[in-house]
Amino acid sequence: MHSFLSLKVSVLLVTVSLVQAKVNVLSWDQAYSRAHSVVDQMSLAQKVAIATGTGYMNGLCTGNTYSIRNPNFPSLCLQDSSMGVHSADDVTAGVAGINAAASFDKTAIRARGEYMGKEFRGKGINVQLGPSLNFARSPYGGRMWESGGEDPYLMGVLASETVEGIQDQGVIAMAKHFILNDQDLYRNSPSFRIDERTLHEVYLWPFARAVESGVGAVMCAYNKIDGSYSCENDYLLNTVLKKELDFKGFVCSDWLATMSTIKAVNSGLDMEMPGDTVFGGGYFGRNLTDAVRRRLVSEERTTDMAMRIVAAWFKMRQDRFYPSVALDSFFPYSAPIVDVQQDHYKLVREMGAASNVLLKNTNNILPLDPNNVRRIAIIGSDAGPYPEGRHCEDRECTGGALGSGSGTVKFPYYIDPLQGLSEAFGYRTQVRSSLDDWDLNKAARAATGADYAIVFVSANSGNENDVNDNAGDRKNLYLWQNGDNLVRTVADANRNTIVVVHSVGPVTMPWIDHPNIKAVLWPGLPGQESGNSLADIITGKVNPSGRLPYTIARREGDYVTSNIRGSPVNYNEKLLVGYKWFDYAGIEPLFPFGHGLSYTKFNYNRWKYSANFSTHYKSEGGWKGEDKLVQEADVLIDTSILNAGPSDGAEVVQLYITFPGGYGEPPKSLRGFEKVFLRRGETFNVHFRLQRKELSIWDTVAKDWVIPSGEYTIHIGASSRDIRQSGKFSLFV
Ligand SMILES: *[C@@H]1O[C@H](CO)[C@@H](O)[C@H](O)[C@H]1NC(C)=O
Ligand SMILES: *[C@@H]1O[C@H](CO)[C@@H](O)[C@H](O)[C@H]1NC(C)=O
Repeated sequence: MHSFLSLKVSVLLVTVSLVQAKVNVLSWDQAYSRAHSVVDQMSLAQKVAIATGTGYMNGLCTGNTYSIRNPNFPSLCLQDSSMGVHSADDVTAGVAGINAAASFDKTAIRARGEYMGKEFRGKGINVQLGPSLNFARSPYGGRMWESGGEDPYLMGVLASETVEGIQDQGVIAMAKHFILNDQDLYRNSPSFRIDERTLHEVYLWPFARAVESGVGAVMCAYNKIDGSYSCENDYLLNTVLKKELDFKGFVCSDWLATMSTIKAVNSGLDMEMPGDTVFGGGYFGRNLTDAVRRRLVSEERTTDMAMRIVAAWFKMRQDRFYPSVALDSFFPYSAPIVDVQQDHYKLVREMGAASNVLLKNTNNILPLDPNNVRRIAIIGSDAGPYPEGRHCEDRECTGGALGSGSGTVKFPYYIDPLQGLSEAFGYRTQVRSSLDDWDLNKAARAATGADYAIVFVSANSGNENDVNDNAGDRKNLYLWQNGDNLVRTVADANRNTIVVVHSVGPVTMPWIDHPNIKAVLWPGLPGQESGNSLADIITGKVNPSGRLPYTIARREGDYVTSNIRGSPVNYNEKLLVGYKWFDYAGIEPLFPFGHGLSYTKFNYNRWKYSANFSTHYKSEGGWKGEDKLVQEADVLIDTSILNAGPSDGAEVVQLYITFPGGYGEPPKSLRGFEKVFLRRGETFNVHFRLQRKELSIWDTVAKDWVIPSGEYTIHIGASSRDIRQSGKFSLFV
């Protein structure tokens, strides 16, 4: 142990240069022409080698490919997770994907992608296993906190901004998990059944946006779709992803999700991860070269695989200088210590505040002015440090809402809420705390007599891990750790109770109408600056502007999906995912999609819009010389927003559309949003533009996106249930 420690101290400390210019990413055409010059020289064995994983769990990256000589191509390092560098020291643990979505802030989402890209690059990682683009189809989903919620448009923005942010730093992003990996319980066993239109309009949408943004890689998943595994599904990989979306990068299997050699490769799988291990795998490598020699897989296919991998590498300019791998140096492996954190904590703190959703604020009890608070009570274990310390592996042992599993990042430090709030309130405020969730008498004593009582509760989940008897998905939507009783106890004891819920997804709130509960805050999974971000909101240093990326129902039974067990899993609700079901069924949610309050007030004033459309024929070219009908539409919307309240703040202006009747579309679909920061008294014009992409639906006969003819309605509002302006226009295309 002693020699290990001294070894670690003596290694070089490298600090990545502060100014790291953006990489000038190549187009796919440019990348392919460079890739040709290398792949044309490769033997069959070499082409297969660069597509094959090796060295799993040997102190290397989550995934590693074989390197080759003559021509030279390096081993690629692939590393979790979608929220930062997994299993590494000296990295930033920022907000989770669900918080990025809750910020409804394109600029911030992009900046988050960029700092993650910087950190992956600094650690010498070629491929980041993210972003995660699976849906909160069911509120129980164990990994829903890694992705962007229940709406395809919002998830699509998360996809494109994150991919571009990561890849601008020269790191290959890997969009995952393709596709319908929307639950974690029994993710390996059931077959998922979905109709083609729902597949396209909901679940494929964010992957399409990632492909448009030039994503270098896509990860196929563990589940079967219509009886065929995701990683050997010819329709999904070859037809949908590679032909329809024109995806030029490589498809990589989730870890041990490759199920065959011939079928997988012929169906479009380009890389096997993690390769041959004691747990299984080994379908590529020699078994693949044998299959080619036996003419069961064509050599052209292996050329295509190699081209896709090498082109992605050229596209992100990894052929120029690329740092060497520097992950954890745990015994007996050693690596230089590379600290990549820079000042990323600042963005983490800002995003932690910007994604905090103020659900309820009776009589404007918040914000609290530290100068006017004599005594405050802070109650619940979720307000304190993690129970088992920050080195608990993948945080599978924690009770708090921090997410667990391969989607996590080791925290370099953790500002817990008690610490963040104590510092923000300062010495003039007396802080009384009770961090035991089960000692209700102590909680009541702490709350009694305080000017305000802030009670912290949580619910957690992670991938396939059995946390508190919740295998993968949550088994119900109750708060963990005696949460409901703790909230009621505190509310009974203090007239000014503020509830803070750190949760991976929706929970039931049977106490919500308790007259003493004046405010509810929903900070999600805010990362290492948790307590500071929260204090910024509670003290009003930052005006809340987060919005719910999913619906919180009054009752568990109000959701269209029940907790899914067994096989097959039918996506029977079709397009009615999330708020679309609540709109359709006329169910009042407790807190609707897009909801979030502010300390100021925004007025939606004058607005105008115009719509025009045209159709023309365009030659498809090729030997058939067929003409194709092309529809174009253009809807321009302009709305004026005034900050009419007492403080500066940001509004999220949301645009929903209602498609013409008779096409079976949901009552409302999000098709645009803008977050605008306005000073007190300031007015701003927000512009939206809808075109073919936003106005079309998937036509299963034409196998294409088609703009339906008829009367549309535009809705502009502050949430999916707070519509301020509606107007109609017609398109006849
Ligand atoms: C690969 O080929 C070897 C030798 O034929 C065989 O024993 C092994 O089962 C194959 N591996 C897989 C995963 O198919
Ligand atoms: C709509 O009108 C604008 C302005 O006249 C024009 O530039 C645009 O091309 C038109 N779009 C379509 C789809 O016809």
